[in-house]
Amino acid sequence: MVRFAMMLASAVEWFMDKFMNWFLEAIVSRIDKRYHIREQPFTGPTSLVAGVDVPVDVQAALQQPAAACVCLRAEHRRLERYAYLIRMALSRSETELDPEALSEFDKLQQLWTVHSGREEKVLFPRLQASLAAVLPELEEEHRGIVAAGRRVRDLLEVPPQARNEQWLADFRARTSETLDLILGHIQQEEVRLLAPAEKDLPAEDQQRLAAEMYASAA
Ligand SMILES: [Fe+2]
Ligand SMILES: [Fe+2]
Repeated sequence: MVRFAMMLASAVEWFMDKFMNWFLEAIVSRIDKRYHIREQPFTGPTSLVAGVDVPVDVQAALQQPAAACVCLRAEHRRLERYAYLIRMALSRSETELDPEALSEFDKLQQLWTVHSGREEKVLFPRLQASLAAVLPELEEEHRGIVAAGRRVRDLLEVPPQARNEQWLADFRARTSETLDLILGHIQQEEVRLLAPAEKDLPAEDQQRLAAEMYASAA
């Protein structure tokens, strides 16, 4: 009897886990459609980065329009997912580069560009008064990430036939450096930017900012 109850409990837990993932994916894809966040399926409410323990807020995500910070958190989860896929592809790249590493890196850079632009053009100016000490550091990190991404791109100038083991090692090292910078930056923003912003900004402000951020999205 006890054994049966334990089996039943684990079956219920498994079902709830699957159901919640499906439910959250459905919510975020609605946000994606409305705000033109692109492509990659949302893969879960919680972060892959140590130190980030705020899941995407389901209730806030259900609001229409959704709140700016929730949308940015959803994009963070997507960036983390790209980083994970790139690392997986690199781990398969023993003698030559797995093409998936490049295609995922392209997607990561594309999302990174629009994401950091939204933050700098819309959210940061709104928080200038309350987070004046934090924002310059985050902007500096944005610039560091762009520079690291450029160092990866420089390596891609080398023609495929000239890419040797050393090239692959360099590509792996520079890509890894870029991903580390992005994931570290996300960790900083979740704790030092989004957490206080969510506390301080009224719901109407968050909704207005979200509308502004995604109004001109391609
Ligand atoms: Fe940022
Ligand atoms: Fe961000």
